[in-house]
Amino acid sequence: MDTKIFKINETKELGSQLADAAGILQKGGLVAFPTETVYGLGGDAKNKDASKSIYAAKGRPSDNPLIVHIPDVAWLDEIVSEIPENAKKLADAFWPGPMTLIFKKNEVIPYETTGGLDTVAVRLPSHPVARALMEKSGVYIAAPSANTSGRPSPTKAKHVIEDLSGKIDAIIDGGEVNIGLESTIIDVTEEIPMILRPGYISLEDVEKVVGKAMYDPGIFSENKNVRPKAPGMRYRHYAPKGNLIVVDGEKAAVCDYINEQIAEAVSQGKKVAVLASNETADTYRNAKVYPIGSLENEEEIAHNLYDLLRRFDEEGMELIYSEAFETPHIGQAIMNRLLKAAGHQVVSV
Ligand code: TXA
Ligand code: MG
Repeated sequence: MDTKIFKINETKELGSQLADAAGILQKGGLVAFPTETVYGLGGDAKNKDASKSIYAAKGRPSDNPLIVHIPDVAWLDEIVSEIPENAKKLADAFWPGPMTLIFKKNEVIPYETTGGLDTVAVRLPSHPVARALMEKSGVYIAAPSANTSGRPSPTKAKHVIEDLSGKIDAIIDGGEVNIGLESTIIDVTEEIPMILRPGYISLEDVEKVVGKAMYDPGIFSENKNVRPKAPGMRYRHYAPKGNLIVVDGEKAAVCDYINEQIAEAVSQGKKVAVLASNETADTYRNAKVYPIGSLENEEEIAHNLYDLLRRFDEEGMELIYSEAFETPHIGQAIMNRLLKAAGHQVVSV
């Protein structure tokens, strides 16, 4: 399949630039598009064949449900059976934005889209291209992240092209995304809202709006019997081909430990990388250092993470040491992705 690339010109009116992409979605085709979190791979959420082709293009297990995107809360009524009070409050506070809510579904969205579940995940993104695409097409867009299953989510059109070129109808290149981590997922079907996937909107942010909220205990559990509620959180994800190890502890001790490990690995002829903050990048010797951003700027760290995870593969890194980035607001979300990428290999020094 020949994948069309539509490059957005920000100085021109959006609607007419999206006409072809909207037509593809209406006919059941697949279009990747930018959102403020990561690029999504879109198809018509009401069309079960479109959903099936999303799973096929990504190589995604069919029990892992898709997020349905809408451009306006008024679109919600048509696809959910109930809008709980907490959902209204959270939608008022954080939509449009990087938050996905889980609702009880009605019969409009097929089980092919929800991975067989009776609930449906819905997000109202703030990105102008995502919104204009839905307005123009009138399509409820089912969209997982636009990566091959298991790889880091795409934050640039280039990443989507790497993974999906030849497998989907079109890619809308709207430049780099803003946040760079997937949305916070919150289940509002129970009394106490539960965060199923951490993201830019933190537990504290949610509690300010609804009072009490909690994390899904399955996200942090090492116990295989306590499974995460979001099917996607159960799978291995983001891992580079090289061996990634996170080193946690006091700054000077982390630097010393990593430098010792580098010396040993280099003597064995290995290609070694270090994922470090801008502040500590200069303290490493004899390895390729990838500065991720300043510890004073956690948005920058989140924004660069997936691009760097992909670059380790491109540049053939065999062993990668990473500092831990437990920043105040989105550190929880950053560390959730980094630890998954490392297969939970952590050394505490
Ligand atoms: O920021 C985002 O959320 C991006 C952009 C494109 O919107 N999308 C995204 O989709 O990250 P995806 O498919 O990569 O991740 C969706 C996650 C998966 O972990 C899936 O299991 C979970 O949402 N999910 C979807 N529907 C669910 C449901 N009904 N109940 C529980 N978890 C659900
Ligand atoms: Mg994904």
